[in-house]
Amino acid sequence: MRVRVAQVTDAEGISLVLQELVAAKKRTRPADLAFVREHYIGHADRIQCFVAEDGDGTILGFQSLKMCRENNDYGTPPGWGSIGTHVSPRAARRGVGARLFEATRLAAREAQVPAVEAYIGADNREGQAYYEAMGFRDYRNADGAVCKRYVVA
Ligand SMILES: CC(C)(COP(=O)(O)OP(=O)(O)OC[C@H]1O[C@@H](n2cnc3c(N)ncnc32)[C@H](O)[C@@H]1OP(=O)(O)O)[C@@H](O)C(=O)NCCC(=O)NCCS
Repeated sequence: MRVRVAQVTDAEGISLVLQELVAAKKRTRPADLAFVREHYIGHADRIQCFVAEDGDGTILGFQSLKMCRENNDYGTPPGWGSIGTHVSPRAARRGVGARLFEATRLAAREAQVPAVEAYIGADNREGQAYYEAMGFRDYRNADGAVCKRYVVA
């Protein structure tokens, strides 16, 4: 497995991962190419976006880190990073998410954000367990979500 910075040409592979998560009932938000380009690869507030790929270049998962602006939709403190992680169900629990966060943690440090927030559905136990394992801790509850914070050292 290799982790690298996401390119425009990764949109299709990322979209496929999201479609697999929708089919597995682990995602309800859009999964199409336009959404991927706008919200992840080409987002104006992107700090970084990493993909994990296997030996033949198939995208296994990705992680997006964005800068939170004033009055953002999630109520996250401005200046913090906001993280999203998506791993294909066919690659789950093989360390893909952990490898992605090794890269994102360094990107957060380089961007000098003081903290990173993960906004996770209150019923998403695996998402909460994953972020907990990466060193995130609960610090507030939002409507239907658990918010975990990672303090960037
Ligand atoms: C949550 C998610 C990103 C985890 O990715 P992953 O590649 O399977 O995670 P890893 O294999 O790197 O697991 C790292 C650690 O996280 C924890 N973890 C991951 N998945 C878990 C699960 N289903 N149940 C309990 N703990 C889990 C474990 O501590 C694990 O370490 P271990 O396997 O040595 O016990 C992935 O399941 C996913 O994309 N889910 C759907 C989207 C989502 O919910 N994203 C997060 C909220 S935005």
